[in-house]
Amino acid sequence: TMMRDISGVSDLERSLKKTLQTRDCIVVPGNTDESSWVKYELGRACLNHMKDHLKEQNIIAVTGGTTIAAVADALTSDFSDKELLFVPARGGIGTDVKNQANSICEVMAEKTNSKHMVLYVPDQVSENIYEFFKNEPYVFEVLSKIRSANIVIHGIGEAITMAKRRKTSEDDMRKIVEGKAVAEAFGYYFNENGEVVHKVQTIGLQLEDLNKIDMIYAVAGGESKAKAIKAYMKIAPKNTILVTDEAVSKLILKG
Ligand code: BG6
Repeated sequence: TMMRDISGVSDLERSLKKTLQTRDCIVVPGNTDESSWVKYELGRACLNHMKDHLKEQNIIAVTGGTTIAAVADALTSDFSDKELLFVPARGGIGTDVKNQANSICEVMAEKTNSKHMVLYVPDQVSENIYEFFKNEPYVFEVLSKIRSANIVIHGIGEAITMAKRRKTSEDDMRKIVEGKAVAEAFGYYFNENGEVVHKVQTIGLQLEDLNKIDMIYAVAGGESKAKAIKAYMKIAPKNTILVTDEAVSKLILKG
């Protein structure tokens, strides 16, 4: 639209798409780090795009975090005419209940009069416990829904910020720091080259599962996430749609 062209945002979108070599980039004006309403705008932009790509029946896997919580805030009941099922992308991950994927799924389902499922699996438990969990009938069902999701909406975090938020053990913290992690997504920590230096052991969507998913929205803004976004986008599936803000886009383009 004209408004977007005047603000120079569409130029940014084109350049960013070229630099990051991804399917699409959607840029909203402002800086998420400075004004909280920008997160809501990221949410709206993501949903606007998604609306045109819904099928009759959809399984939407979501991660937690404050940005994806803002996507939930921006959801409206006009999504109710399609069948939607919201599932958390991965079990556990994080301690902040309000911004956990399980809670976000619940809000999303409520706002659209649709269904959701929960996955309560603790992080960092032994292999045996995982095997046990995976075979629980309800968990088994949730896992199969996650694997057949046609849409994923996920956040990208700055590595150290996320590690601290998750009350990461000293040993794992060392791996993250010594591995020079700058980005985090889905419980995976990445260095500047997009190599995995640590991974939170939990069930649900694994990085390789993303390749089978049609619509992938990575939603993250704010200058503080410049390195994180750049690093994650190096390994992100090429059909990822990045929804981000103007401030960090300019920083990424500066190189
Ligand atoms: C999450 C995702 O919950 O949100 C993480 O699972 C991501 O991968 C994080 O790093 C980002 O959080 P926020 O609050 O910055 O949106």
